[in-house]
Amino acid sequence: MPKFRNIIVTGGAGFIGSNFVRYIVANHPEVAHITVLDKLTYAGNPANLAGLPKEKVQLVVGDICDQDLVDQLVQKADAVVNYAAESHNDNSLIDPAPFIQTNIVGTTVLINACRKYDVRYHHISTDEVYGDLPLRENLPGHGDGPGEKFTPDAPYRPSSPYSASKASSDMLVRAWVRSFGLRATISNCSNNYGPYQHIEKFIPRQITNILSGIRPKLYGTGKNVRDWIHTSDHSRAVWQILTAGKIGETYLIGADGEKNNQEVLALILELMGQPGDAYDHVKDRPGHDLRYAIDATKLRTELGWRPMITDFRQGLQQTINWYSTHQDWWRDEKAAVEARYRQNGQ
Ligand code: NAD
Ligand code: DAU
Repeated sequence: MPKFRNIIVTGGAGFIGSNFVRYIVANHPEVAHITVLDKLTYAGNPANLAGLPKEKVQLVVGDICDQDLVDQLVQKADAVVNYAAESHNDNSLIDPAPFIQTNIVGTTVLINACRKYDVRYHHISTDEVYGDLPLRENLPGHGDGPGEKFTPDAPYRPSSPYSASKASSDMLVRAWVRSFGLRATISNCSNNYGPYQHIEKFIPRQITNILSGIRPKLYGTGKNVRDWIHTSDHSRAVWQILTAGKIGETYLIGADGEKNNQEVLALILELMGQPGDAYDHVKDRPGHDLRYAIDATKLRTELGWRPMITDFRQGLQQTINWYSTHQDWWRDEKAAVEARYRQNGQ
């Protein structure tokens, strides 16, 4: 197993990247130094790294598209794990430009630097590159037959500007591996939930709506299915792939957590003591993917990974508790986020 002493975590002040940084600090003392390279967009927050030892974790505020800065940092590192991205589908439907810039151009800058200095690269991607699947009830194997979940070699058919930009970045990484010998792996994960997720996203939006006296908002019918995984299980999987994964390979990360949006909202309402019908149906997302489902067999069998948080109700309760007790973390942004959604009819 390779030993990484100096790791760069791009986007490490965001939701999932900051979880990975906290995971390394808590579990891998052999890592001497973590450089978080983060532009601190609306989604990045230095508070997500609060309490971590300053001698070990350094935040560099900067853009992954800045080749000089990236070169300067990468030449001193053993590995780069790239979480930096524009990550919200709804935003990509309003303005795709920053998605193209950060997700495609930024990835290219990083892999060029890793190629130049022969540094190990891990690319964080999404299951959305595979498009969507029919609902289980419309499938012969009821969702468990061959081809009824995403597998690593499923065809790419992204639906939104966000997922198309992530698909492009995956393709670039694969090309750099094959053409230039880049030492890289890719992981495509399903929907994450847990503390520190930006309140524009489905679960924290509904929790903070209820805490603010606003009715939760369900897009369209609410039958769309997402495959939920706790962000801490995602971080453990990424570490496993970084340290034991095979160069050039793609690993899918998922915890068999399929639920439709209506079911998730019903559980949030119940856990927060609200009536089951205390929500609004709003305009659907254009091109809204119907169902995601991950087949994580490769990760489980080849790398021995298993999710630890398998009780969604319990994970959701803990997430609700976190947003309830960390209102200073999200309160200031709530009105602006909701005003933006209202403008869009959502
Ligand atoms: P996030 O929006 O919470 O965080 C993104 C971080 O990247 C922020 O800190 C932001 O400031 C930073 N950033 C944005 N542009 C940058 C740039 N040009 N240079 C440097 N930093 C920049 O996103 P997230 O939900 O934590 O997602 C992280 C990664 O995981 C993304 O690549 C996303 O595609 C992927 N992913 C997310 C999920 C999910 O459910 N959220 C699931 C699978 C994969
Ligand atoms: O599958 C992985 C992806 O999961 C990641 O690549 C993305 O970065 C991440 O944002 C997430 O994408 P989704 O579009 O699935 O997540 P979001 O939280 O935006 O929406 C989840 C579902 O909830 C989706 O079907 C849309 C619906 N929704 C969303 C919001 C914000 C609602 O019904 N109401 C809402 O208010």
